[in-house]
Amino acid sequence: MGKIPENILNEIQDKCDIVEIISSYVSLKPSGRNFKACCPFHHEKTPSFVVSPDKQIYHCFGCNSGGNVFNFLKEYEKIDFIDAVKMLAEQTGVKLPEYRSHDDQDASVTSTVYSVNDIAANYYSGFLEKSGLSSESNRYMTKRGLDGPIIKKFRIGYADSSWRAMLDYLSARGIKQDAILNAGLIIKGKENSYYDLFRNRIIFPIFDARNRIIGFGARVMDDSLPKYINSPETAVYKKGQHLYGLNFAKADIKEKNFAIITEGYLDVITCHQYGVTNAIASLGTALTAEQIRLLKRYTHNVVILYDADQAGETASLRGLDLFLEEDMNVKIATLEKGHDPDSFLRKFGKENFDEAIKKSKSLFTYKLDILKDKFNSTEPESKAETIKEMLSTINRVRNAIIKAEYIKLLAQELSVKEDAVWEELKKVKGTPRHSLRSGAGQAGCLEHGAKKFIEISPAEKILARLMIEDVNVIKIVRDELKPSDFKNKDIRNIAEALFSIDNEDSLIDINKLINSIEDKVPQNIISFIVNEEVDIKDKERNVSDCIITIKKENRNKLLKDIQNRLHVAQKSGYEEEEKRLVEEFNQLMKRGL
Ligand code: CTP
Ligand code: MN
Repeated sequence: MGKIPENILNEIQDKCDIVEIISSYVSLKPSGRNFKACCPFHHEKTPSFVVSPDKQIYHCFGCNSGGNVFNFLKEYEKIDFIDAVKMLAEQTGVKLPEYRSHDDQDASVTSTVYSVNDIAANYYSGFLEKSGLSSESNRYMTKRGLDGPIIKKFRIGYADSSWRAMLDYLSARGIKQDAILNAGLIIKGKENSYYDLFRNRIIFPIFDARNRIIGFGARVMDDSLPKYINSPETAVYKKGQHLYGLNFAKADIKEKNFAIITEGYLDVITCHQYGVTNAIASLGTALTAEQIRLLKRYTHNVVILYDADQAGETASLRGLDLFLEEDMNVKIATLEKGHDPDSFLRKFGKENFDEAIKKSKSLFTYKLDILKDKFNSTEPESKAETIKEMLSTINRVRNAIIKAEYIKLLAQELSVKEDAVWEELKKVKGTPRHSLRSGAGQAGCLEHGAKKFIEISPAEKILARLMIEDVNVIKIVRDELKPSDFKNKDIRNIAEALFSIDNEDSLIDINKLINSIEDKVPQNIISFIVNEEVDIKDKERNVSDCIITIKKENRNKLLKDIQNRLHVAQKSGYEEEEKRLVEEFNQLMKRGL
């Protein structure tokens, strides 16, 4: 990687303790020489997340995520490597060199997008401020009841109707067209000309949880369409990965231990203006698992507060099942017909709003009420239909006790036998996603690449372990094998990193090794290897056996390859080719291993 000098990384790692850092996120319990906890990266009831103070490495034996302290922060805070390093550098007081590296294109594009967005936001908000109270934009602010402090807090702005105001402004500040394009602020017109994406609209910057501006939403000031234009996806803005307002709401969400999820920009802003500071928005789309997991860092409880016309939709109800799969408690609040949180607060005030939140119903009750309305629940067929729909939700409840209680309630509510409901539950199709993860242990958590672990041949796995444990083994293997001899690409990756370790080193610095690898899976494999207590007997013998096995496997593959080609050549009568292949085959056989 080599973007941040190795000695700086070492210095940071020396100055911080992985146990201390992880403890600030996860409650760790001592267990022998190590610490254990339930893994923060997948759902589990028995701890398989291990932190080793000696090695300064963590690993989860449930989902196979692991690595050093930088990996943990990356994963937990959903930040990139550079940001994880910066964060720890700050905490440990290590000074980072000013750097701008060429092989670090991605990181520099990312940070440029943030700063371009920031400059753009200042421009938009400055424009709104300057426009004067009688301007259309400020009249619109007044019409929507937004006061000065809230406009400032959410950095609301205005883009005038010019086609190039932003482009010219940013260019004049020396920002390259490419950077403006990467931030999604301009679009390409005819003949390589560019023009501003947002024109004559009120601008709502979209922040990530760390207060950085990742994109913008822009609303018209009348009834024309489209009502909103949003930034395209950029290096920092991915649809469905962020929650609007979370940066302002996260502290209060933690404090109150629940979040209110609304649909739109103005719902959040008005909520915050009225002191409902745990409100966030999904921005009109169905919530994604990523958004739910993001929120889960702050609370396990949500109240859904959609527009009155939306809430009853079965489709949006199904979306809520996702919360159950993520082990979150979800309640639904309803507002007077025709209102959204914004208009409700303005018309009825905070007290009534709080009342509506207090009256929110559990997803179970809410859904059942809707279904009971929809179907006449005295007829057997209607009951069956209601039960089927309810079971698809209940099936996703992770807590067995809650699940059983719901089944009991459902049976009571519809006056059917509880046994019959249990019987139907068995028939519910589609395994909820979580059973994939928690049920099969190691095979779980596909996103962490655990599946790939299984595909590794034993010889490659053992050899990787032996090399990581002993520098001398690396030297032996390096003389016998090339990185490309390893079939598994992640082991190949590890071998490459190990082979380039300085000959002088007598001990392998695992943290350094991990830092020198970019991909997650090989990092996870290393943390797995170093945290798993395996005692391999007769190491020397094992090393040579593994090398031979790998060589054999590779040769067999080559031989097979030649045979296949030979077969084709014979069938098509290419005699020259046939001769050449036979020769190649014999050479390979003769050469030995
Ligand atoms: N939305 C969008 N694009 C649209 C319409 C809506 O991105 N063309 C998103 C916006 O994030 C919007 C949310 O969906 O905030 C909810 O839409 P809607 O209820 O129509 O808008 P409101 O936020 O209520 O805006 P307003 O009160 O100004 O009508
Ligand atoms: Mn609205």
